[in-house]
Amino acid sequence: MEKIKTLINEEKLNNRIEELAMQIYNDFGDEETVLVCILKGATYFTIDLSKKIKSNNVILDFIKISSYGVGNRETTGHIDFKLGISENIEDKNVIIVEDIVDSGKTMKYLIEYIKTKKPKTVKTCALLDKPSRRTEDITIDYVGFTVENLFVVGYGMDYDEKYRNLPYIGYIE
Ligand code: IMP
Ligand code: MG
Repeated sequence: MEKIKTLINEEKLNNRIEELAMQIYNDFGDEETVLVCILKGATYFTIDLSKKIKSNNVILDFIKISSYGVGNRETTGHIDFKLGISENIEDKNVIIVEDIVDSGKTMKYLIEYIKTKKPKTVKTCALLDKPSRRTEDITIDYVGFTVENLFVVGYGMDYDEKYRNLPYIGYIE
């Protein structure tokens, strides 16, 4: 068993997600907005974020890819597509919702994939940003927290599929 230390507690998470939701509502108002959740890591974040956006025009969709090897802490850059979007997003506002952006390879790939579906706008949202590890030139429009080069778990994020269900964000010592 790994030893987990708290990095961001539930209260801080909630408050910051509330702010992000307000920012998104300020930008899109009641225009149709599709939140594209990247499975599995971004599920807890996407659901909580969606509940805090005060609009009746939010749509959810899901993408499943995998870029991490089992028990591997670094992305391989090889992205394996497991589930594509199911909604028609042509001419719609799309926000790609990720748990964490590390090298940026996954997000870069997702932006290109979403663009092929001809949306009206594409924005990116990540609960966590680890800029010290970035290799790709991408923009994250909505960032929850910027974190140091730590391996984080909880609130959707895993190490070897474990710890997703922690209600806070921790890191492995
Ligand atoms: P990237 O393609 O290098 O930006 O990696 C992004 C993906 O790697 C995220 O969607 C996460 O699933 C995973 N990842 C990156 N850093 C961490 C971490 O610290 N903990 C858990 N997963 C991570
Ligand atoms: Mg992920």
